[in-house]
Amino acid sequence: MVGSPKQTGEGPDAPTETVRVELAERSYDIIIGEGLLADAGTYLAPVLTRPRVVIVSDETVAGLHLPPLREALNRSGIRNDAIIVPAGEGSKNFTQLQSLLDRLLELRVERRDTILALGGGVVGDLAGFAAAILRRGIDFIQLPTTLLAQVDSSVGGKTAINAAQGKNLIGAFYQPRLVLADVTTLTSLPARELRAGYGEVVKYGLIDDFEFFQWLEKNGADLLAGSGAAMRHAVAVSCRAKAAIVARDERESGDRALLNLGHTFAHALEAEAGYDGRLLHGEAVSVGMCMAFALSTRLGLCPSQDAERVRRHLSEMELPTGTDGLGLAALTAETMLGHMRQDKKVTDGQLTFILARGIGQAFVTRDVAEADVKEMLYDALRPARAG
Ligand code: NAD
Ligand code: GLY
Repeated sequence: MVGSPKQTGEGPDAPTETVRVELAERSYDIIIGEGLLADAGTYLAPVLTRPRVVIVSDETVAGLHLPPLREALNRSGIRNDAIIVPAGEGSKNFTQLQSLLDRLLELRVERRDTILALGGGVVGDLAGFAAAILRRGIDFIQLPTTLLAQVDSSVGGKTAINAAQGKNLIGAFYQPRLVLADVTTLTSLPARELRAGYGEVVKYGLIDDFEFFQWLEKNGADLLAGSGAAMRHAVAVSCRAKAAIVARDERESGDRALLNLGHTFAHALEAEAGYDGRLLHGEAVSVGMCMAFALSTRLGLCPSQDAERVRRHLSEMELPTGTDGLGLAALTAETMLGHMRQDKKVTDGQLTFILARGIGQAFVTRDVAEADVKEMLYDALRPARAG
């Protein structure tokens, strides 16, 4: 499934990879490559009902990537407007949604027009939800500019804003018409954001692709150093993995839960940290995946060498593998479990866990005794409490 990446620095003429998300009449392509935004009109034109789009972006991304995108659209005769929202998680709320919908209506966006979401997961989730409800649904296209968005949030049709009661609680499953993942945009991403997205890349190796995990052990450092070929390859493998899972289980009644490997623990850590930028989602996922493997080992399901190998790779990539140094010294196993019980994946009061029989052998289960989770958490949090 996985081959070696082509030479780095191939530039705009480097090949593109296309991954198909098979969802009957809602199927779409994910096109992955370098320098794609500069030629956006060519890629977009075939899926636009008419040549009119509104770009939604955030202040940071717009400053960097909006002008070349608009030039490319203009060159292709695609009429375009832009709406800019503030950068950061704070934009995924009712106030920003309402003002975005107002602006779209003021621009007289019609049902045959298309929204382009240019940015990370925040812009994708917000603009995607606006597209889902405006005039009962208009087309949208994802132009993801963070590694996290290219390998996860832009694919699969989950769109949402946050509520006071929790993250992503108000939203819709609404698939884009196309995803254009230009890995060249990742070169302007702060190193910490790139590393956080890398946590989600590793997740795909851990779920069901040991070969990809081995490839990441060899090439992860190149990817994080900005190798276009390594990025393209990793994004393509990740999207192929996610597309296959989404095609089997679009609405998460089964296998899609595999994508939440490490996430129940991660969401608890994020809730404790308070979404203030202290702990990025991918960093929390990195710690959460280590906890999932630690729990799997404790339950006698997974060799301890595999758990250690996961921890070592994440640590070598400078991702956190425990709570030390995260400013969560007061966190206890009981508090953590309290956060976990608020998770969206709780059914009839029972938590769902993604565990592993080894690297690349993840599975979904609800059959885990709370005492085992508590003991694992007690061990995992001990250094943080002592520090
Ligand atoms: P983000 O969108 O906030 O982007 C992170 C930061 O990077 C922002 O400040 C942004 O302005 C900046 N940025 C983006 N692209 C840049 C670039 N190319 N160069 C320089 N700066 C750039 O965060 P994210 O990590 O992309 O996404 C997190 C969001 O995604 C969360 O709200 C999460 O809930 C959501 N999410 C959704 C799904 C899904 O399936 N829909 C999956 C995972 C995460
Ligand atoms: N990010 C998890 C999912 O899309 O299901």
